[in-house]
Amino acid sequence: MTAEACTGRPRIVLDCDPGLDDAIAILTAAHFGELVGITTVNGNVGIEHTTHNALVTAQVAGLDVEVHRGAARPLIAPTMDAARIHGATGLGDVALPELTRSVASDDAVAFLCDAARSVDDLHLVAVGPLTNVALALRRDPGLRSRLAGLTIMGGGAHAGNVTPVAEFNVWADPEAAAIVFSEAAPLTMVGLDVTHKVLLGGSEASRMRSAGTPAAHFAAGLLEYAYDRCREFGLEAAPVHDATAIIAVTHPHLFRRSTHPVAVELHGEHTRGMTVTDVRPPAAIAAEPAPPAQDVVWDADAAAVIDLIVQAVINT
Ligand code: RIB
Ligand code: CA
Repeated sequence: MTAEACTGRPRIVLDCDPGLDDAIAILTAAHFGELVGITTVNGNVGIEHTTHNALVTAQVAGLDVEVHRGAARPLIAPTMDAARIHGATGLGDVALPELTRSVASDDAVAFLCDAARSVDDLHLVAVGPLTNVALALRRDPGLRSRLAGLTIMGGGAHAGNVTPVAEFNVWADPEAAAIVFSEAAPLTMVGLDVTHKVLLGGSEASRMRSAGTPAAHFAAGLLEYAYDRCREFGLEAAPVHDATAIIAVTHPHLFRRSTHPVAVELHGEHTRGMTVTDVRPPAAIAAEPAPPAQDVVWDADAAAVIDLIVQAVINT
């Protein structure tokens, strides 16, 4: 099957914290999926910025999609951000138009629960801290059974970014992540193991700019800002984490995954926010009670995923 072939246009509701790569994920979901709605959460930057950024991304791309404001802080953890990566307002230094749109509601959790009940074959893709998803599970414990799929950009079996062993989305609200991993299995964990291989740089930004559309120009600016930050860490290109999670839903054949128990560490002095992934043989795992099993994504046809993300941006 070619990279262009996909599983139809999956219905997606995107929970996000825009964020440079979240904004590219919005464009990717709108192009390859049926983007049913966007919910925002505190994460990369504060909720007012992440909500503004979701609205302005939809506006720049001319998307007819509702945005619902969500949680302004983690369940228990102190509020942290990733402004040093995404910029003070979350979209780097990209010039933005005057916002002409407003949120459809201030209750992202109600929207998530309502959409899960009313939209058939709905995929919930969460690419920020899992606060909204955890609160939705508290409101509707049967949420997972109403979804066709739950995919997160988060965690990592053998990788961390915000600490040696923890990935930002899980680390920023580990109590929420623990609820989601234990009460909404099976989820698909698109973690750093795979997203660190989906690296976009100057050539992809040039392809975007050559498209000449407002959305492509906007996305190129986000990508250029992202890889400039990455250069500070010795990288020549930027991992586009969140759009990778979207492609994992729209083009699953491009990804290698396997099923393993995953636990979210809450108490370790050095390991809080780690997604502890049990890769031992099933017989060893069966010998004792294990956390719920999740679909862990390990690898992808990175070139095909990268090309699809660029295609989405230049064709939105
Ligand atoms: O660790 C990467 C994740 O954290 C991405 O979702 C990025 O947007 C940030 O939220
Ligand atoms: Ca994100």
